[in-house]
Amino acid sequence: MDDELSEKFIHCTIHHKLNRSSFVPFLLLYLSLSFFIFSTVVSSRGFDELVLSKADYQGLQAFKSTLIDTRGVLSSWNGTGDNACSGGWLGIKCVRGRVIAIQLPGKQLGGTLSKKMGELTALRKLSLHNNSITGSIPPALGSLPRLRGLYLFNNRLSGDIPAAIGQCRMLVNLDLSHNLLTGSIPSSLSNSTRLYRLNLSNNKLSGTIPTGLFTLSNSLTFLFLQHNKLSGSIPQSFGNLRMLKEVSLSNNLFTGNIPDELGNNLQMIRALDFSANSIEGTFPISLCNLSTLVSLNLERNQIDNGIPEAIGGLKKLSVLSLKSNRFRGEIPATLGNLTSLSLLDLSENKLIGEIPDSFGLLTKLTSFNVSDNNLSGSVPLVLAQKFNASSFRGNIQLCGYTTSAPCLSPPSPSSSMKPGHHRRFSTRDIILIAAGAAIAFLLLLCCLLLCCLARKRSDLPTRSSAARTAEKTEREAGEDAGGKLVHFDGPLVFTADELLCATAEIMGKSSYGTVYKATLEDGNDVAVKRLRERIVKNRKEFETEVNKLGKVRHPNLVALRAYYLGPKGEKLLAFDFMPKGSLAAYLHARGPDKHVDWKTRMNIAMGVARGLNHLHSELNMVHGHLTSSNVLLDENTNAKISDYGLSNLVNANVSSSTLVTTVAELGYRAPELSRLKEAQPISDVYSLGVIMLELLTGKPPGETINGLDLPQWVASTMSEDRTDELFDVELNRENVGDELLSTLNLALHCVDPSPTARPEISQVLQRLEVIKPELAVTTSSVIEEGSASND
Ligand SMILES: *[C@@H]1O[C@H](CO)[C@@H](O)[C@H](O)[C@H]1NC(C)=O
Ligand SMILES: *[C@@H]1O[C@H](CO)[C@@H](O)[C@H](O)[C@H]1NC(C)=O
Ligand SMILES: *[C@@H]1O[C@H](CO)[C@@H](O)[C@H](O)[C@H]1NC(C)=O
Ligand SMILES: *[C@@H]1O[C@H](CO)[C@@H](O)[C@H](O)[C@H]1NC(C)=O
Ligand SMILES: *[C@@H]1O[C@H](CO)[C@@H](O)[C@H](O)[C@H]1NC(C)=O
Repeated sequence: MDDELSEKFIHCTIHHKLNRSSFVPFLLLYLSLSFFIFSTVVSSRGFDELVLSKADYQGLQAFKSTLIDTRGVLSSWNGTGDNACSGGWLGIKCVRGRVIAIQLPGKQLGGTLSKKMGELTALRKLSLHNNSITGSIPPALGSLPRLRGLYLFNNRLSGDIPAAIGQCRMLVNLDLSHNLLTGSIPSSLSNSTRLYRLNLSNNKLSGTIPTGLFTLSNSLTFLFLQHNKLSGSIPQSFGNLRMLKEVSLSNNLFTGNIPDELGNNLQMIRALDFSANSIEGTFPISLCNLSTLVSLNLERNQIDNGIPEAIGGLKKLSVLSLKSNRFRGEIPATLGNLTSLSLLDLSENKLIGEIPDSFGLLTKLTSFNVSDNNLSGSVPLVLAQKFNASSFRGNIQLCGYTTSAPCLSPPSPSSSMKPGHHRRFSTRDIILIAAGAAIAFLLLLCCLLLCCLARKRSDLPTRSSAARTAEKTEREAGEDAGGKLVHFDGPLVFTADELLCATAEIMGKSSYGTVYKATLEDGNDVAVKRLRERIVKNRKEFETEVNKLGKVRHPNLVALRAYYLGPKGEKLLAFDFMPKGSLAAYLHARGPDKHVDWKTRMNIAMGVARGLNHLHSELNMVHGHLTSSNVLLDENTNAKISDYGLSNLVNANVSSSTLVTTVAELGYRAPELSRLKEAQPISDVYSLGVIMLELLTGKPPGETINGLDLPQWVASTMSEDRTDELFDVELNRENVGDELLSTLNLALHCVDPSPTARPEISQVLQRLEVIKPELAVTTSSVIEEGSASND
């Protein structure tokens, strides 16, 4: 651990020390260089002398005195504060005797916020969200010049947002959402020129959005003002906020137009939600310039022109709702270009004409609604099959979506029958005509379907390459304090600043570097791997490779969500955090009462096999050091392989020497690897075999048993016919003897010393699915990864 101390983490690292022998692995990371220098000094001197300063002691006492602490969570805030800075006081973090963070979210705290908290002048972060604090926000917060994060959401705070808050010039994150705040948004917020995320949603704020807010053009990125009583119009200067990525102004009392300039200046925007206001006027064509837009919600307003054709340019759009407006005219066929759309709602407007055939291309639609318009003609077959009548109702001349509204004539509006003609036909004629029409209609549908398929096929290459280019340009690099943060797709939202300032806990070390559990300010956890700098490839090669890794998505592979390149060459990788830790710990470090049943074990084995199969057959990638320590488990105990592809990030000479030897020590290394320089797919199969033996025997392969490694021990036990000693005791109690034996045979096949005798990974997977068919999944459920556990 000592070399860990001398290694600097990012810009600064503060290790808190409980006592001389054990480090509490807390790391607080700050951007400011001064703090880095300072913390280096601190770590060379030790922490024992750093006692809470008198002023802050008093500040904390005052802070505590006005809170109501029914659960007694603040009972550790006792004594003279000697231990307050060394972890003794819950939720307190200090630097050099000054309190820099108070973090007490979700502690059932009531009472009010003390006016005297202004004495805590070094405070950078105040997290009191998810409590029941009442009263008003004290203006004294304005005397906290270093405050960066203020999280008071989900309390019962009332009164105004004090104007003094604008004196917190360093403020980055302000979240006061879900309170009972009234009054207007203080215009002084424009002084907080670093404000990045502003969330004032779900309050009772009124008045207009202060124009000062629109001067935060270089910082404001997330703006949430939904569910308030804000009024007035949305000004032209809104378009100055060119960093904006997500905006919600929904459920307020805004009126007037959406300004035309909006789309010209907001280049990064991903989500725009103006729903449920009284916005009138026309749909601004400039919105169609927002090429990065993923979600556009204009529901429940009074917008009353046609839907512009240019909307087809919003290639990334996944959600489009224009519900309940006054849109007129025909639906532009260009909407069919929005192939990423999953939700399209055009209901409750005044649209006429037909539903364009191009909608057949919208294969990702899961929600569709054109009810209550004045549409005519037949519904494209694909839509009619996928959605029920509730998506089409209220269009008198629309047909083909339900048996009670069949299309009698070919779906061309000009050929609709004149009402007077009916009398001239006999019943028989009508039946014949209807039958003929039905046949014609069916033929037409077949043609349509074929056309659709053909069109889709010919579209495919161009679309995917376009998508790829778009993807590249979208991945914006948040350059922060000289560092660079790149996000891949996923639910996590954080800035470089937040990542670096996250509370972090060391989870483990590997030959690639150290892994931390970082808790972001919004409460989400991420696993951060800090790569050892000396072994990593140069920046350009690194970025090429890491961008490839960031695209890998499979339910049994841990997803890389972002990477960070620090100004001094630090390299951080952020992955989904896996709450159940590694398989090694889960299996070998559990308490005596914790049973892991056979089904769970098989599910893990199959998960690893599936992940490995994806690596080998889809990505042409060899893992090279698969062990039960880098098989991680999600909250449902599904296996996810980590550390794949990392060897592509480090220099070739390093990967073949240091890294492979660590594998050898652990007993997962295929025998041929002592001769070969490069790992082969078939040596991964060997490692999987060892993992299966671990699952069967409950024994870790690292410990040799009478000088034999795990495969050898299993083989010798079998040859001596002592198989009853082989399996984990608790498995013998389950009635699954046959399955155990079949799996054992398969595992032994995988650890055959001769690589050519081992099965391919796809065969291993097949065999496992035969042994435990109820755990076999259909291919379709494997393709789409479930949304990550961090939501
Ligand atoms: C302070 O609180 C801690 C933890 O609750 C407790 O162990 C300790 O005895 C208390 N000290 C005093 C002086 O009350
Ligand atoms: C903003 O606040 C609302 C209400 O508390 C919450 O649902 C939402 O997730 C917040 N958004 C962000 C980005 O913090
Ligand atoms: C529906 O459209 C037709 C023309 O296609 C028009 O005659 C009729 O008035 C429209 N109805 C409504 C309610 O707008
Ligand atoms: C129609 O589909 C919607 C969702 O797509 C569903 O909520 C509704 O229950 C369905 N109605 C019928 C009658 O099946
Ligand atoms: C479609 O919109 C109509 C009108 O708002 C609504 O009644 C209906 O439930 C919606 N159907 C679906 C499937 O969303």
